[in-house]
Amino acid sequence: MASLPFTPLLLNLLASLIFLLLISPSHSLKCTSQTFTNKKLYTNCTDLPYLSAYLHWTYDSTKSSLSIAFIAPPAKSNGWIAWAINPTGTGMAGAQSLIAFKQSNGSMTVNTYNISSYSSIVKSTIAFDVPEKSAEYSGGVMKIFATLRLPKDTASVNQVWQVGGAVDHGIPVKHAFEAANLNAKGTLDLVRSAASNAPAPTPSEGPSSNENVGVSRIGNSTLA
Ligand SMILES: *[C@@H]1O[C@H](CO)[C@@H](O)[C@H](O)[C@H]1NC(C)=O
Ligand SMILES: *[C@@H]1O[C@H](CO)[C@@H](O)[C@H](O)[C@H]1NC(C)=O
Ligand SMILES: *[C@@H]1O[C@H](CO)[C@@H](O)[C@H](O)[C@H]1NC(C)=O
Ligand SMILES: *[C@@H]1O[C@H](CO)[C@@H](O)[C@H](O)[C@H]1NC(C)=O
Repeated sequence: MASLPFTPLLLNLLASLIFLLLISPSHSLKCTSQTFTNKKLYTNCTDLPYLSAYLHWTYDSTKSSLSIAFIAPPAKSNGWIAWAINPTGTGMAGAQSLIAFKQSNGSMTVNTYNISSYSSIVKSTIAFDVPEKSAEYSGGVMKIFATLRLPKDTASVNQVWQVGGAVDHGIPVKHAFEAANLNAKGTLDLVRSAASNAPAPTPSEGPSSNENVGVSRIGNSTLA
């Protein structure tokens, strides 16, 4: 009956290894350490809480002009990434979206989509003027650059973001329905102000947390 005294230890090691593998190390990166090769600069950035995504942005409130860089790895290399503002709801239905993917000739494209349902992902104009948009793909990460003209006095928007694994004849194919996909939405406060608009979400957060300066708030979720 030679029992193997190291077996529990091995199991333990194995369990730790599996645990480590399950944690995505890439998400420990912070947006504040990201820079752009095209020299674009943004005043604010947010580590989005799902899908290893990041939003960099500058908002000119006098012109209601929002410039963004949205960064995320597509679910697969031939997939797509999307960032949207939803003026009428909080989820995908009604999302005024920018979707980027690689075309069959290999160059990236980004188009606008007024998404009314999962079954109609059709290129169209959206509720906002988009005077500038472009997309890049490098190092496994896609980037959408865009400028949007929002309605006058916009101080916060509902944002939605998403990634998918395939594009079929120029049409982004439905994304996965994991928790991370479904939770990828939140409020983006463009103007830093306690009292300007909308009910304050969580008073318990306390009035002064200087650590958050320059970083926008996404819903009430904690950032990993
Ligand atoms: C790829 O195709 C798109 C759309 O047909 C076109 O606009 C673009 O210039 C092409 N890119 C290259 C590198 O050929
Ligand atoms: C977006 O689609 C909805 C539903 O079809 C429509 O009511 C709305 O006018 C569209 N918005 C734009 C900007 O085209
Ligand atoms: C964005 O960054 C600017 C400059 O650091 C800061 O003054 C402003 O409060 C930030 N906006 C938000 C919503 O955090
Ligand atoms: C916000 O906080 C509430 C209460 O703590 C929690 O139930 C909810 O899931 C949170 N929402 C998000 C988006 O994290």
